[in-house]
Amino acid sequence: MKVTFITGNQHKVKEAQGIFQQFDIKLEHVDLGYPEIQGKLTDVACYGATYAANKLKTPVIVEDAGLFIRALEWFPGTYSSYVQSTLGNEGILKLMKNVQDRYAEFRSVVGFATPKTEPEIFLGVVGGHIVHHEKGKEGFAYDPLFKPECYDQTFGELTLEQKNEISHRRRSLERFANWYRDFTSKKD
Ligand code: IMP
Repeated sequence: MKVTFITGNQHKVKEAQGIFQQFDIKLEHVDLGYPEIQGKLTDVACYGATYAANKLKTPVIVEDAGLFIRALEWFPGTYSSYVQSTLGNEGILKLMKNVQDRYAEFRSVVGFATPKTEPEIFLGVVGGHIVHHEKGKEGFAYDPLFKPECYDQTFGELTLEQKNEISHRRRSLERFANWYRDFTSKKD
């Protein structure tokens, strides 16, 4: 089985390759920009996947993710990319100064589309807590801030393999992979 992953983020490509290996899915990576409409993760993923499938005339997946912090009314959420490049992790820690409720979730939505079919979406969520200081140099973006539930280390301290066992992206891609196996076998 093969699937084309549309993303400009090399970290996501590495993570997805590791996860898909276990499902015997070969990943082809295309860095095709697609319009990121403003809206929920599911809207962004559906729109992006449909756009890319029609443009490339092939089945594709896109993945859209974000960090949602409960005490900040689920900010930065769909603004995660913009907030990362403006406020950064230090800015998030300032907003969380003296905040007791440190619960947060990473959410990931995989959108799958073909030029002929309606898009499908697959959600993955991992709960955890925002730490008080950045920890670790692995991963990317908010990883050093986020300690997944039942772990003593942040995503920034985990290896790629360890993050891939439990991450939001693991959960959405795994859901997609299980569904895709049936989808391709029905086609043959
Ligand atoms: P995107 O729009 O799906 O690329 O993700 C939006 C932003 O969420 C990214 O630019 C990162 O700042 C953040 N993000 C998404 N996934 C992760 C992750 O696994 N670790 C850390 N930050 C992430």
